[in-house]
Amino acid sequence: MLVNFNEMLIKAKKGKYAIPHFNINNLEWTKYILEKCNELQIPVILGVSEGAAKYMGGFDSITGMVKGLLKDLNISIPVCLHIDHGSNKEICKKAIDAGFTSVMIDASHHELEENIRITKEVVEYAHKKGVSVEAEVGHIGGTEDNVVSSTTNATLEDCITMYENTGIDALAPALGSVHGFYKGEPNLDFNTMEIINKNLAIPLVLHGGTGIPEDKIKKAISCGISKININTDLQSVWSKAVRHFLETNKEVYDPRKIIGSGELAIKNRIEEIVTLFGTKR
Ligand code: 13P
Repeated sequence: MLVNFNEMLIKAKKGKYAIPHFNINNLEWTKYILEKCNELQIPVILGVSEGAAKYMGGFDSITGMVKGLLKDLNISIPVCLHIDHGSNKEICKKAIDAGFTSVMIDASHHELEENIRITKEVVEYAHKKGVSVEAEVGHIGGTEDNVVSSTTNATLEDCITMYENTGIDALAPALGSVHGFYKGEPNLDFNTMEIINKNLAIPLVLHGGTGIPEDKIKKAISCGISKININTDLQSVWSKAVRHFLETNKEVYDPRKIIGSGELAIKNRIEEIVTLFGTKR
Protein backbone atom coordinates (compact mmCIF):
# COMPACT_ATOMS: atom_id res chain seq x y z
CA MET A 1 0.00 0.00 0.00
CA LEU A 2 1.41 3.42 -0.98
CA VAL A 3 1.10 5.85 1.93
CA ASN A 4 2.64 9.09 3.18
CA PHE A 5 5.15 8.74 6.02
CA ASN A 6 3.08 10.31 8.81
CA GLU A 7 1.65 7.24 10.52
CA MET A 8 4.84 5.18 10.31
CA LEU A 9 7.06 8.01 11.61
CA ILE A 10 4.73 9.03 14.43
CA LYS A 11 4.65 5.38 15.59
CA ALA A 12 8.46 5.21 15.32
CA LYS A 13 8.88 8.42 17.34
CA LYS A 14 6.61 7.06 20.09
CA GLY A 15 8.19 3.59 20.01
CA LYS A 16 11.79 4.92 19.88
CA TYR A 17 12.88 3.12 16.74
CA ALA A 18 13.66 4.31 13.20
CA ILE A 19 12.03 3.70 9.83
CA PRO A 20 14.53 3.03 7.03
CA HIS A 21 14.62 5.32 4.01
CA PHE A 22 16.46 3.43 1.25
CA ASN A 23 17.34 5.27 -1.96
CA ILE A 24 16.38 3.40 -5.13
CA ASN A 25 18.27 3.34 -8.42
CA ASN A 26 16.42 0.96 -10.71
CA LEU A 27 13.77 -1.73 -10.89
CA GLU A 28 15.92 -4.45 -9.34
CA TRP A 29 16.90 -2.27 -6.36
CA THR A 30 13.27 -1.40 -5.73
CA LYS A 31 12.19 -5.04 -6.03
CA TYR A 32 14.85 -6.27 -3.57
CA ILE A 33 13.96 -3.60 -0.99
CA LEU A 34 10.23 -4.28 -1.28
CA GLU A 35 10.66 -8.07 -1.12
CA LYS A 36 12.96 -7.95 1.91
CA CYS A 37 10.89 -5.42 3.88
CA ASN A 38 7.74 -7.36 3.05
CA GLU A 39 9.37 -10.58 4.26
CA LEU A 40 10.29 -8.79 7.52
CA GLN A 41 6.86 -7.10 7.61
CA ILE A 42 8.20 -3.62 8.29
CA PRO A 43 7.25 -0.28 6.70
CA VAL A 44 9.73 1.30 4.31
CA ILE A 45 10.40 4.64 2.62
CA LEU A 46 11.69 4.50 -0.96
CA GLY A 47 13.82 7.62 -1.51
CA VAL A 48 14.30 8.99 -5.02
CA SER A 49 16.92 11.66 -5.65
CA GLU A 50 16.50 14.00 -8.61
CA GLY A 51 19.44 12.29 -10.29
CA ALA A 52 17.92 8.85 -9.79
CA ALA A 53 14.56 10.11 -11.05
CA LYS A 54 16.18 11.29 -14.28
CA TYR A 55 18.12 8.03 -14.56
CA MET A 56 14.92 5.97 -14.26
CA GLY A 57 13.09 8.05 -16.90
CA GLY A 58 11.10 10.43 -14.68
CA PHE A 59 8.47 10.51 -11.95
CA ASP A 60 5.70 8.81 -13.91
CA SER A 61 7.97 5.89 -14.81
CA ILE A 62 8.85 5.49 -11.13
CA THR A 63 5.30 5.58 -9.79
CA GLY A 64 4.26 3.14 -12.52
CA MET A 65 7.10 0.80 -11.62
CA VAL A 66 6.50 0.97 -7.85
CA LYS A 67 2.72 0.49 -8.15
CA GLY A 68 3.29 -2.43 -10.50
CA LEU A 69 5.74 -4.10 -8.11
CA LEU A 70 3.40 -3.63 -5.13
CA LYS A 71 0.68 -5.45 -7.04
CA ASP A 72 2.71 -8.15 -8.79
CA LEU A 73 4.70 -9.05 -5.67
CA ASN A 74 1.65 -8.86 -3.34
CA ILE A 75 3.40 -6.39 -1.05
CA SER A 76 1.30 -5.94 2.10
CA ILE A 77 3.46 -3.46 4.10
CA PRO A 78 3.05 0.35 4.14
CA VAL A 79 5.37 1.82 1.48
CA CYS A 80 6.11 5.54 1.16
CA LEU A 81 7.40 6.87 -2.18
CA HIS A 82 9.42 9.96 -1.35
CA ILE A 83 11.43 12.56 -3.27
CA ASP A 84 14.82 12.96 -1.62
CA HIS A 85 16.26 16.52 -1.63
CA GLY A 86 13.76 18.04 -4.05
CA SER A 87 15.60 21.23 -4.92
CA ASN A 88 12.62 23.42 -5.81
CA LYS A 89 8.84 23.71 -5.68
CA GLU A 90 8.32 22.68 -9.31
CA ILE A 91 10.16 19.37 -8.86
CA CYS A 92 8.10 18.57 -5.76
CA LYS A 93 4.83 19.45 -7.54
CA LYS A 94 5.77 17.28 -10.51
CA ALA A 95 6.49 14.32 -8.25
CA ILE A 96 3.24 14.83 -6.32
CA ASP A 97 1.24 15.04 -9.55
CA ALA A 98 2.85 11.80 -10.71
CA GLY A 99 1.69 10.01 -7.52
CA PHE A 100 4.57 10.32 -5.05
CA THR A 101 3.18 10.13 -1.51
CA SER A 102 5.88 12.23 0.13
CA VAL A 103 8.45 14.89 -0.69
CA MET A 104 11.52 16.40 0.85
CA ILE A 105 11.88 20.04 -0.13
CA ASP A 106 15.51 20.90 0.34
CA ALA A 107 15.83 24.66 0.06
CA SER A 108 18.71 24.59 2.55
CA HIS A 109 21.00 26.25 -0.02
CA HIS A 110 18.96 29.45 0.61
CA GLU A 111 18.89 31.67 3.71
CA LEU A 112 16.40 30.49 6.37
CA GLU A 113 13.73 33.03 5.39
CA GLU A 114 13.73 31.92 1.75
CA ASN A 115 13.98 28.25 2.78
CA ILE A 116 10.82 28.76 4.88
CA ARG A 117 8.99 30.61 2.08
CA ILE A 118 9.66 27.83 -0.45
CA THR A 119 8.95 25.04 2.06
CA LYS A 120 5.64 26.63 3.02
CA GLU A 121 4.49 26.71 -0.61
CA VAL A 122 5.35 23.03 -1.01
CA VAL A 123 3.49 22.16 2.22
CA GLU A 124 0.37 24.00 1.02
CA TYR A 125 0.36 22.07 -2.26
CA ALA A 126 1.33 18.70 -0.75
CA HIS A 127 -1.11 18.70 2.17
CA LYS A 128 -4.08 19.32 -0.12
CA LYS A 129 -3.20 15.99 -1.73
CA GLY A 130 -2.41 14.07 1.47
CA VAL A 131 1.33 14.12 0.73
CA SER A 132 3.83 14.42 3.62
CA VAL A 133 6.68 16.95 3.61
CA GLU A 134 10.20 16.84 5.05
CA ALA A 135 12.41 19.95 5.15
CA GLU A 136 16.05 20.62 5.95
CA VAL A 137 17.50 23.24 8.31
CA GLY A 138 21.21 24.06 8.27
CA HIS A 139 22.88 22.21 5.41
CA ILE A 140 23.87 18.53 5.29
CA GLY A 141 27.09 18.30 3.29
CA GLY A 142 29.12 15.48 1.78
CA THR A 143 28.73 13.82 -1.62
CA GLU A 144 25.29 13.16 -3.06
CA ASP A 145 24.25 12.65 -6.69
CA ASN A 146 27.94 13.39 -7.46
CA VAL A 147 27.65 16.88 -5.95
CA VAL A 148 30.01 17.81 -3.09
CA SER A 149 29.00 20.41 -0.47
CA SER A 150 30.00 21.38 3.06
CA THR A 151 27.90 21.20 6.23
CA THR A 152 26.34 24.04 8.23
CA ASN A 153 24.81 22.85 11.48
CA ALA A 154 21.21 23.69 12.41
CA THR A 155 20.26 25.67 15.51
CA LEU A 156 17.26 25.02 17.76
CA GLU A 157 15.92 28.49 17.06
CA ASP A 158 16.01 28.00 13.27
CA CYS A 159 14.33 24.58 13.58
CA ILE A 160 11.50 26.04 15.68
CA THR A 161 11.08 28.94 13.21
CA MET A 162 10.90 26.49 10.29
CA TYR A 163 8.37 24.25 12.07
CA GLU A 164 6.10 27.04 13.30
CA ASN A 165 6.00 28.85 9.97
CA THR A 166 5.48 25.95 7.57
CA GLY A 167 3.52 23.03 9.07
CA ILE A 168 6.09 20.46 7.85
CA ASP A 169 5.61 16.82 8.86
CA ALA A 170 9.27 15.92 9.55
CA LEU A 171 12.53 17.81 9.85
CA ALA A 172 16.12 16.96 8.91
CA PRO A 173 18.34 19.24 11.01
CA ALA A 174 21.99 19.23 9.89
CA LEU A 175 23.89 18.09 13.00
CA GLY A 176 27.17 16.73 11.69
CA SER A 177 26.14 13.79 9.50
CA VAL A 178 27.24 13.86 5.83
CA HIS A 179 26.21 12.08 2.65
CA GLY A 180 28.59 9.40 1.37
CA PHE A 181 31.50 7.82 3.23
CA TYR A 182 32.88 9.60 6.32
CA LYS A 183 36.47 10.71 6.57
CA GLY A 184 37.16 9.63 10.17
CA GLU A 185 34.52 9.32 12.94
CA PRO A 186 31.20 11.09 12.35
CA ASN A 187 30.83 13.93 14.82
CA LEU A 188 27.11 14.19 15.59
CA ASP A 189 25.74 16.91 17.89
CA PHE A 190 23.53 14.71 20.06
CA ASN A 191 22.85 17.47 22.61
CA THR A 192 21.23 19.74 20.04
CA MET A 193 19.44 16.72 18.53
CA GLU A 194 17.85 15.93 21.89
CA ILE A 195 16.89 19.54 22.55
CA ILE A 196 15.33 19.93 19.08
CA ASN A 197 13.38 16.71 19.63
CA LYS A 198 12.04 17.97 22.98
CA ASN A 199 10.93 21.25 21.41
CA LEU A 200 9.37 19.92 18.20
CA ALA A 201 6.31 17.67 17.99
CA ILE A 202 7.31 16.24 14.60
CA PRO A 203 9.68 13.33 13.84
CA LEU A 204 13.35 14.05 13.10
CA VAL A 205 15.33 12.65 10.17
CA LEU A 206 18.98 11.63 10.03
CA HIS A 207 20.60 11.89 6.60
CA GLY A 208 23.93 10.30 5.76
CA GLY A 209 23.19 7.03 7.56
CA THR A 210 26.04 5.18 5.81
CA GLY A 211 29.12 4.62 7.98
CA ILE A 212 27.71 5.89 11.28
CA PRO A 213 28.87 3.42 13.97
CA GLU A 214 26.14 1.29 15.55
CA ASP A 215 26.36 2.95 18.98
CA LYS A 216 25.88 6.38 17.40
CA ILE A 217 22.87 5.17 15.40
CA LYS A 218 21.31 3.89 18.64
CA LYS A 219 22.13 7.14 20.43
CA ALA A 220 20.58 9.16 17.57
CA ILE A 221 17.38 7.10 17.83
CA SER A 222 17.30 7.64 21.60
CA CYS A 223 17.70 11.40 20.93
CA GLY A 224 14.56 11.41 18.76
CA ILE A 225 15.57 10.33 15.23
CA SER A 226 12.67 8.42 13.60
CA LYS A 227 13.78 8.16 9.95
CA ILE A 228 17.29 7.28 8.80
CA ASN A 229 18.39 7.70 5.19
CA ILE A 230 20.65 5.08 3.65
CA ASN A 231 22.02 5.25 0.12
CA THR A 232 25.79 4.70 -0.21
CA ASP A 233 25.75 1.63 2.05
CA LEU A 234 23.52 -0.45 -0.25
CA GLN A 235 25.37 0.83 -3.34
CA SER A 236 28.62 -0.26 -1.77
CA VAL A 237 27.56 -3.82 -0.81
CA TRP A 238 25.84 -4.29 -4.20
CA SER A 239 28.85 -3.16 -6.24
CA LYS A 240 31.24 -5.31 -4.18
CA ALA A 241 29.11 -8.40 -4.82
CA VAL A 242 28.71 -7.66 -8.55
CA ARG A 243 32.43 -6.94 -8.97
CA HIS A 244 33.24 -10.29 -7.36
CA PHE A 245 30.68 -12.08 -9.56
CA LEU A 246 32.10 -10.54 -12.75
CA GLU A 247 35.66 -11.40 -11.78
CA THR A 248 34.75 -15.02 -11.07
CA ASN A 249 32.27 -15.50 -13.96
CA LYS A 250 34.03 -13.95 -16.93
CA GLU A 251 31.85 -15.74 -19.51
CA VAL A 252 28.50 -14.38 -18.22
CA TYR A 253 26.84 -11.66 -20.30
CA ASP A 254 23.15 -11.89 -19.25
CA PRO A 255 22.40 -8.54 -17.51
CA ARG A 256 19.84 -10.24 -15.27
CA LYS A 257 22.57 -12.48 -13.87
CA ILE A 258 25.03 -9.61 -13.52
CA ILE A 259 22.68 -7.12 -11.83
CA GLY A 260 21.01 -9.93 -9.85
CA SER A 261 24.33 -11.10 -8.42
CA GLY A 262 24.04 -8.20 -5.95
CA GLU A 263 20.56 -9.19 -4.72
CA LEU A 264 21.59 -11.22 -1.69
CA ALA A 265 24.13 -8.59 -0.58
CA ILE A 266 21.42 -5.90 -0.61
CA LYS A 267 18.86 -8.08 1.15
CA ASN A 268 21.28 -9.24 3.86
CA ARG A 269 22.42 -5.69 4.52
CA ILE A 270 18.82 -4.45 4.77
CA GLU A 271 18.16 -7.05 7.48
CA GLU A 272 21.22 -5.93 9.46
CA ILE A 273 20.25 -2.25 9.12
CA VAL A 274 16.63 -2.60 10.19
CA THR A 275 17.62 -4.86 13.09
CA LEU A 276 19.94 -2.06 14.26
CA PHE A 277 17.17 0.52 13.78
CA GLY A 278 14.75 -1.67 15.78
CA THR A 279 12.14 -1.10 13.03
CA LYS A 280 8.68 -2.43 13.87
CA ARG A 281 5.48 -2.88 11.92
P1 13P B 1 24.24 8.08 2.56
O1 13P B 1 24.50 7.98 1.09
O2 13P B 1 25.41 8.60 3.30
O3 13P B 1 23.73 6.79 3.12
O4 13P B 1 23.11 9.18 2.77
C1 13P B 1 21.84 8.97 2.20
C2 13P B 1 20.96 10.14 2.39
O5 13P B 1 21.05 10.85 3.37
C3 13P B 1 19.95 10.39 1.36
O6 13P B 1 19.27 11.56 1.56
